[in-house]
Amino acid sequence: MAEIGTDIEKAIHLLNAGQLVGIPTETVYGLAGNALREETVARIFAVKNRPSFDPLIVHVPGLERVHRYVTGVPDKAVALTRRFWPGPLTILFPKLPVIPDLVTAGLDTVGIRCPDHPVTRALLHRLDFPLAAPSANPFGYISPTTAQHVDDQLGKKISYILDGGPCTIGIESTIVGFEGDDAVIFRTGAVAREDIEQVIGNVSIRTAATDNPVTPGQLHKHYSPHKKMLLGDIRKLLTTVDVSKAATLSLMSMFPQLDRKRQLILSPTGNLEEAAKNLFSTLRQLDKLDVDFILAEEVPDTGIGRAINDRLRRAAVIE
Ligand code: TXA
Ligand code: MG
Repeated sequence: MAEIGTDIEKAIHLLNAGQLVGIPTETVYGLAGNALREETVARIFAVKNRPSFDPLIVHVPGLERVHRYVTGVPDKAVALTRRFWPGPLTILFPKLPVIPDLVTAGLDTVGIRCPDHPVTRALLHRLDFPLAAPSANPFGYISPTTAQHVDDQLGKKISYILDGGPCTIGIESTIVGFEGDDAVIFRTGAVAREDIEQVIGNVSIRTAATDNPVTPGQLHKHYSPHKKMLLGDIRKLLTTVDVSKAATLSLMSMFPQLDRKRQLILSPTGNLEEAAKNLFSTLRQLDKLDVDFILAEEVPDTGIGRAINDRLRRAAVIE
């Protein structure tokens, strides 16, 4: 198992030596390494068992650093960083050759974000390279929101995990790119479309859930528990399975036909921010129950609810 601790000096030492470290962010924990060192980046893909066509996000301590890695920063991107950085927004920029092609899966854009977590910000300020960091889970499985989650899955493959407590947001960053002057959301996430539109006007959404994949990273099946998860109207789904083998996942509803211990809710008050924060840890809890099916239903499709529903759809087999 990996060592879990709060020793930033140790993390700096390991990262300078080209090794990988589990790091906390406000969204999910990342599996971090020097983004400019090809063999380190290759190790990230290997540890996650991630296909090489799925690009990584690069983490920086602020906008000043972005200029070292990209050919240009559009005005709208500057406006977005002013409003949302540090925070859960990843922006796609045309990359300079200093960013290895392995990081971007051969694409000519690189996704960059400045995370809002005091531990990781302190770390990034102390390093003279940016950190490539995908979510610290095996490819396709549920994202980690505590240091323990990282250790549970990747502990045998890395030596150190920086513990920054449970993630305060709990769902990944929103990814925005530009086509000419038009802004496009390629992954819904913690920053809602409405909030982006308040800063730069109209933004379209083009994720795998709304379109055919246009970029290699937009995979349908993702965030999945090992158990079979069915997404729909739980009341109806309950009539189609052996109830004694089922557990439920709902925003706030309970179902009288089922043992209470097998009914997990995301927020007792129906608060979507709280639901986002609890989503991945609740999926992990469900995956450990002695049941065959997880029956889940969507949350209201507004604000961060849209990102929650995106994760639920990709985790599930839709019936
Ligand atoms: O909140 C987050 O973004 C977390 C934390 C650790 O920062 N990171 C994260 O990374 O979610 P990951 O690797 O699990 O998801 C990154 C996704 C890729 O699967 C891909 O869809 C997209 O980001 N991506 C990265 N670079 C891209 C690019 N140049 N063009 C299009 N999509 C890109
Ligand atoms: Mg991920």
